[in-house]
Amino acid sequence: MTIIKLNAIDSTNTYLRELCATIPVDDMTVVVTDFQNKGRGLMGTIWNSEKGKNLTCSVFKRHVDFFVDRNFFVSIATSLALIKTLIQFNILNLSIKWPNDILADDKKICGILIENVIKSNQLEFSIIGIGLNVNQHNFVNLPNASSMKKLTGTVFNLDEVLFVFQKEIKLYFEILNRGEYALLKKEYERHLFRQNKKSQFKMPSGSVMTGIIDGINNQGKLIIRHRDGLKTSYDFKEIEFIY
Ligand code: BTN
Repeated sequence: MTIIKLNAIDSTNTYLRELCATIPVDDMTVVVTDFQNKGRGLMGTIWNSEKGKNLTCSVFKRHVDFFVDRNFFVSIATSLALIKTLIQFNILNLSIKWPNDILADDKKICGILIENVIKSNQLEFSIIGIGLNVNQHNFVNLPNASSMKKLTGTVFNLDEVLFVFQKEIKLYFEILNRGEYALLKKEYERHLFRQNKKSQFKMPSGSVMTGIIDGINNQGKLIIRHRDGLKTSYDFKEIEFIY
């Protein structure tokens, strides 16, 4: 697997996006940096990360015969690869806060930003950005953030963490390429944060809804069971977890 190491860059996702528009990029190429000065998070947010402390990387994943309506499986494979990686470094109490925040002890330890390129209803490739909090100890104004070091007191070697993650993500994409959707969905649901627990969600109207997370459907929408027993599935923009 090709690894491109950069001292600093605006964003590894942006860099990889521009690179693959210029030259052919090998499947599973990884771009990793010590520092991003324009790190991007979900929904147009900024992703800040202390220099040299965390795993800040993006993976280029090319797809073959991959219908766009299955695109959530890229999130599933990535989330599960991160869970498996963290387990190997003895990080406990892991869960996936839908759609793809990785939590440890109910605090966010890793964010994922997946950008897909679609051609005629097929996913052509994905750029999978990973911001894994490894050795950073202070998170200003982020009370719900944590890191591997904060949880264990241990300082981790970033190259070792990347090595394990690369191995795991390769394995999970092999499972996905074999079409083992049910297995991946089941494993993802097994790690789902607050599954079968009464939770509160903010709706686009601003109102608060109480319901129980039942799982996800095949498109990755979150299925919520309401008080009357009825189930509704929600897209990412249709519902927001109240932590
Ligand atoms: C989130 O908001 O939870 C997603 C954060 C994703 C951050 C990573 S860091 C590496 C890659 N490059 C970026 O600009 N963002 C992603």
